[in-house]
Amino acid sequence: MDNQIQFKPGRLISIDDLDKEDILILYSTSLEFEKILNRPFKKIPALKEITIANIFFEDSTRTRISFELAEKRLSADVVNFSANSSSIKKGESLNDTIQNLLRMKIDLIVIRHKVSGSANYVYEKTRIPVINAGDGNNEHPTQALLDLFTLWQKGFKNENLHILLKGDILYSRVAGSAIKLWNKLGIKYTIEGPNTVQRKSQIRSITKKQNSFNVIYNLRIQKERQDLELIPSLEEYNEFFGSKVFTDFDQMTIMHPGPINRGVELDSELADGPKSLILDQVEIGVALRMAIIYLLGQKKGG
Ligand code: CP
Repeated sequence: MDNQIQFKPGRLISIDDLDKEDILILYSTSLEFEKILNRPFKKIPALKEITIANIFFEDSTRTRISFELAEKRLSADVVNFSANSSSIKKGESLNDTIQNLLRMKIDLIVIRHKVSGSANYVYEKTRIPVINAGDGNNEHPTQALLDLFTLWQKGFKNENLHILLKGDILYSRVAGSAIKLWNKLGIKYTIEGPNTVQRKSQIRSITKKQNSFNVIYNLRIQKERQDLELIPSLEEYNEFFGSKVFTDFDQMTIMHPGPINRGVELDSELADGPKSLILDQVEIGVALRMAIIYLLGQKKGG
């Protein structure tokens, strides 16, 4: 695995940190790790000299466990930080927290935080590799990368994809990264959802619903981030933008980053149906996260 020689970024804060060549290196490295994850013995000694801190200031199931598992499969030393059980609760600042981690010789930080820009702030303050595991409504780059990798693994090619990105675009950091990634790779997509939760400045175009798409990417309604009542009710959202709207849903591949609000943006029949890739996204995400940690971990000391 000598891909790290060409992999340029020293951090993954945004999809903007990657050019096309970096994305292809990341995916080819992910393929190698996927093979390792399918062996009876899944652990390799690649990063046994590296210590990683997962600092999570917001709740997470998939991302947090996926990163921790990826790090442990690579034999890195791992420390986990949760804001709820830390001195943040006594008023310690984010900068003081990370300066303490640095003195304890942390080599790489994975951060989730409710404030947009926080991952970049941590990178500026530490200058060690930082991976953004979701910052406010800004970006969640590993989610977007693993979603596209999942589609490739299921046989889709960029030129044959037409993704319907459906839901709360404005408050979705997954959408923030996905749109940048798809634009970078020339992947066709259509946006669908209430006009009150779209980020019109970022998207290429909003087109009317049409039946040429082959993947529906459902976004979670981010009630915890909406400071305005932009959607009249979850029942009304389900009526106008939920599963029922599409009569030919059974022809389409279903994706969702999780956690799902069942019965709001997606009904169980589709979430658990034969065309759903939702759990494949979770499984394949570990290999993708191993790859980004491995590539960034190689940059220690130089
Ligand atoms: N997709 C995602 O970020 O899920 P978690 O919030 O559970 O990590």
